[in-house]
Amino acid sequence: MHKDIREIIFTEDEIRLRIRELGEEITADYAGKTPLLIGVLKGCYVFLGDIARSIDLDCEIRFITASSYGVSTITSGDVRIGMDFDFPIAGKDVIIIEDILDSGNTLAALRNFILARKPASLKICTLLDKPARRQASINPDYTGFLCPDEFVVGFGLDYAERYRNLPYVASLKPEIYSE
Ligand code: IMP
Ligand code: MG
Repeated sequence: MHKDIREIIFTEDEIRLRIRELGEEITADYAGKTPLLIGVLKGCYVFLGDIARSIDLDCEIRFITASSYGVSTITSGDVRIGMDFDFPIAGKDVIIIEDILDSGNTLAALRNFILARKPASLKICTLLDKPARRQASINPDYTGFLCPDEFVVGFGLDYAERYRNLPYVASLKPEIYSE
């Protein structure tokens, strides 16, 4: 275990099994379709890699950036969305792939951004859901795990751009935030 970690919340094995189940669910729900997976960078990158490989269908994969956080652990509510270029969304079955749904402000802004481009359908798939902290009225269609109301890192999630590469989801020792 990494020296800065206080507690592992979801282990590598638990996450692998759960992603396999989610992939089977999505495969069944989208049979005969070619879903467009839109990953929300950067936190999605590990989850997207695994979930995409567990979906047994042709998929298109694109990325979008959205950020409401600096190096702090509290959402600012001010969401910036970026696309490298305006890829086609109209008529597609879009699944947004997120690392964590917290206040919901990021996904609420992204949902409006995507709906304005007239997809055939839009669903949200998140590895972690922290319903205790929701501000926007938004709920995921596919959830890996309900997450306790604390700041977590690993499996793509960062604190000040670190810990994304940890293969599990964990909480940090309190002294890490005060350094
Ligand atoms: P929201 O807009 O508050 O729902 O925030 C969503 C984004 O905040 C996520 O995509 C993450 O990048 C980040 N975030 C929220 N909670 C955590 C956490 O516990 N650890 C790391 N990043 C988080
Ligand atoms: Mg994120």
